[in-house]
Amino acid sequence: MTGNSDQAEFWSTEAGRNWVTFQRALDVVMEPVLDLVLEHADLQSGEVVIDIGCGTGASTLRAAQAVGPNGAVHGYDISPVMLDLAAQRTSELGHVTLSEADAQSHTFAQGAADALISRFGVMFFADPTAAFANLARALRPGGRMVMAAWGPAPQNPWFMDPARVARERLGTPPKVDRTLPGPFAFEDADRVTRLLGAAGLNVTVTPVDLHLGALASLDDLAEQSCHIGPASGIMREFNATAADRNAIRDGIAQAFSAYDTGDGVRVPARINLITARV
Ligand SMILES: C[S@@+](CC[C@H](N)C(=O)[O-])C[C@H]1O[C@@H](n2cnc3c(N)ncnc32)[C@H](O)[C@@H]1O
Repeated sequence: MTGNSDQAEFWSTEAGRNWVTFQRALDVVMEPVLDLVLEHADLQSGEVVIDIGCGTGASTLRAAQAVGPNGAVHGYDISPVMLDLAAQRTSELGHVTLSEADAQSHTFAQGAADALISRFGVMFFADPTAAFANLARALRPGGRMVMAAWGPAPQNPWFMDPARVARERLGTPPKVDRTLPGPFAFEDADRVTRLLGAAGLNVTVTPVDLHLGALASLDDLAEQSCHIGPASGIMREFNATAADRNAIRDGIAQAFSAYDTGDGVRVPARINLITARV
């Protein structure tokens, strides 16, 4: 089985710290995706839920509200720095547990969970088929998985616009294989169906078009995009100066202004909603 030490390193250092710094903004932007997952998970009072790649805990909190104190939510993540914030946010909730674990290889209590949820936490496995076979064992027979992953990159300007702006300023970094662990590893619905099918799951991948949540200002959105997502990687790759950074932030704000609805800037997105029963 291939390990996830690169991803553990990535999420435990600068990327994880940025997710902690921008947690409030990210949770606003990504709230419609969490709404989508929870609507389809239809969690019931008293149920036991596992939350994969729970990060700073937004989904864990909402799931805990849905199942109530007679249920339980167990969040798993590979990043201690993100889990620390999740622990602070859930400290009052006796029915939440959080564990630092690689979901691909962790030994879960077998057949103990009614449902598995994840918002953007399942695209980072070196061996997705092994990971999903492992996750399936954590669910009781008839248990359900409901997960959100980013759909095709070209349909996701939240990534592509900042990437274009940063490339125009600094140059094009070496091409990456988007099927490798990363935000777009599950962009191809047929590939996801095949990979999870090989894990014994009968999976449905539904593309869903939505608008991400609106931040108070374009500048906030542009600032967040300079720290999280492809623009930050390109700036690192090309050793961007402060002047480059300012120009890129302004360019991103300009690009995102196209999505100003009059009721806030709401960037369109295509999500792959992945559901399965075991
Ligand atoms: C894009 S973030 C999403 C975080 C959170 N679900 C959210 O929506 O705010 C991806 C998360 O998956 C976690 N992750 C990546 N690989 C993992 C693995 N093998 N096992 C558990 N968590 C993992 C990362 O540490 C990170 O918290």
